[in-house]
Amino acid sequence: MRPFPEPVPITRPLVPDLARLSARLASVLGSRQLSNGGAQHAELEAALAGLTRVDHVALTASGTTALILALAALGRRGDEVLTTPYTFAATTNAIAWAGMTPVFCDVDADDWTLSPDALRAALTPRTRGILAVHTYGIPCRVHAIERFAREHGLFVVYDAAHAFGVERGGESALAWGDASCVSFHATKLLHTGEGGAVFTRSAATHARLDRLRNFGLFARDGEFEVGLNGKMSELSAALGLCVLDEVAREITRRGALVVRYQDHFRGVPGLRHVGPPAGVAPNHQYFVLAIDAARFGRTRDEVWEALRAANVHARRYFHPLTSAVPAWAGVPSARPENLPRAHAAAKEALCLPLFGDLGTDVVDRIAEVVLHTAALERAA
Ligand SMILES: Cc1ncc(COP(=O)(O)O)c(C=O)c1O
Repeated sequence: MRPFPEPVPITRPLVPDLARLSARLASVLGSRQLSNGGAQHAELEAALAGLTRVDHVALTASGTTALILALAALGRRGDEVLTTPYTFAATTNAIAWAGMTPVFCDVDADDWTLSPDALRAALTPRTRGILAVHTYGIPCRVHAIERFAREHGLFVVYDAAHAFGVERGGESALAWGDASCVSFHATKLLHTGEGGAVFTRSAATHARLDRLRNFGLFARDGEFEVGLNGKMSELSAALGLCVLDEVAREITRRGALVVRYQDHFRGVPGLRHVGPPAGVAPNHQYFVLAIDAARFGRTRDEVWEALRAANVHARRYFHPLTSAVPAWAGVPSARPENLPRAHAAAKEALCLPLFGDLGTDVVDRIAEVVLHTAALERAA
């Protein structure tokens, strides 16, 4: 099979209309306020609060910063935080940068989000919180997680880096827990180049976040607590406001491509689309396949290599588990026998290219490459 002449990327950022962005940037430059909560920053926070119906939004410099700030606002250094190893480095890194210790718990077999059943065995007297991930924009089992948290007096932070735009029952996924942290990195649906935000329904948590992202400074006399510079600039906020206008259309375009991928892979033994269940309004941040080598006849890595040879940048997302890297592999909760389902997921997951202006013919060819590895034909 001939490779694509140009590399097919895993994603491409939404690029807003240049004239509209220029108008906003002109207004930023004219104001001579480039950071520290100017007009664009205020407008983006208000727009996001309005869209999600979550009262308090704190924009941050990145999704990672959002996570560190949320943990610092809700817990203390030295706390243990129950979390998933089936995630991007940033989730586990944030716990460490907040001065806390991750305690790894297994995921559920179907959607690879943190398993509420795994929490109880991981509890110790130092456990203070839970950091769960809405992996690929698939909502965690929030009711069970939050019931457990209430029983044991724990805070709940959701890593919602992938979940902007996801809703269930008309409610934004960003409304759940004590705080939800979003990434606005350029690889995300809504982006500000680099950026993020913490969403919370608590005015007190928001006030704490507001201080922590500004060096921990109190309003008076330069007095401070331990904080960091976690603010978003006016330039990023202006970009975010322009991209925000495009997001709904992008979700629709991606949705059509997801259906096309699904049509190709439906009924193929050993291939499963890992997506949100019925009742969730998805954001189509990613298209993820679980490849069961025993049934498909080829391993995930063999498919990944075949795609690479075809000039397609698929990603083994997430591989390796964050519990398997040298920084954490030695902690007791990282033992593979504690995390069998997460280890299985890290062997099976393959993220295929998905972005609004990806051609349907390209989706068809990618599907063809995947199926061809197992000597199967794609759907006509
Ligand atoms: C699950 C998860 N959490 C956190 C982050 C960090 O976000 P950022 O890159 O904005 O720091 C990412 C980034 O891709 C992510 O995938």
